[in-house]
Amino acid sequence: MDIIGIGYMGFETTKLDEWRDYGPNVMGFGIGRSPESDPDSLYFKIDDRRHRFAFHPGKVDRLAYIGWEAIGRMAFEDALKKFTTAGVEFTRGDAELCEKRGVRELIRFRDPVGYQHELFYAQKWTPRSFMPGRCHGGFVANERGAGHVVVITPEYGPELENFLINVMGFSWYGAGAGKGRTGFFRSKLNHHTSHDIAYGFGPGRMGVQHVGIVVSSIRDVGETYDIVRKRELPMMMTLGQHTQDPHVSFYHFTPSGFAIETIAEIEPWQGDPFELNPEVLSVWGHEMVGPILGPSVKTPEEVLDPEYLASKR
Ligand SMILES: [Fe+2]
Repeated sequence: MDIIGIGYMGFETTKLDEWRDYGPNVMGFGIGRSPESDPDSLYFKIDDRRHRFAFHPGKVDRLAYIGWEAIGRMAFEDALKKFTTAGVEFTRGDAELCEKRGVRELIRFRDPVGYQHELFYAQKWTPRSFMPGRCHGGFVANERGAGHVVVITPEYGPELENFLINVMGFSWYGAGAGKGRTGFFRSKLNHHTSHDIAYGFGPGRMGVQHVGIVVSSIRDVGETYDIVRKRELPMMMTLGQHTQDPHVSFYHFTPSGFAIETIAEIEPWQGDPFELNPEVLSVWGHEMVGPILGPSVKTPEEVLDPEYLASKR
């Protein structure tokens, strides 16, 4: 599947008012226009797309959907054929949903774990429409997409890898340096970073562990770090440099209990010269100063839709 990467992500939250302050004033996100059919949700811009992150009012803080971007209409149509052949159930987004997401067309489907995904093409875009919420040098998004996500899966079986590799067409990147079982995957057309999504095996656990967002410069990492420290927001990992990507980053917890990794690329990604099997997660820094799994990681019963859970039983 000709997927570029994650085009957008949606979350449900009990902390909308906190996000309204945190998004622009800590992360530097721009506040996007909420669609008329969804006035109560909060939409954030990090580039010239209509939005990249949506926060919808909900009863629990959880990841609501991951929106994968097909490079265009033909790729989208090819993907639909592939889903049909593979027997993956999907539903088409109606006009109202497409308008909410600001896209031409979309479908909705679930992975074998139960996470909700969407595939779309042609999200609305206005050149030079991004205004950061505070003084900020901007984000590396546009054709690179919104960033990456790491989710926890209560079961890590062959059907998950089969779905990601053989249906979604992702490349297997590796297992990372962590002690647990984690799989890192990237979209076929992502030639800039090691992964768009990773699934970490956490028996009995489910939820979003962190979201990685790439900023334009190391100064933006440093200034975000200063604001996080000044506000005494909970930290997960201090500043450091990863082994598998030439990234300097730090991790802190958002109002929803998942972490954001604020990232600056310090040199171009090395690609896949061989399957990387790093000795350590980081070459310097990244001291763990908080839990690796924040309060956003719960039980499947807490983060899955009741109707979906009922259909699986
Ligand atoms: Fe990350």
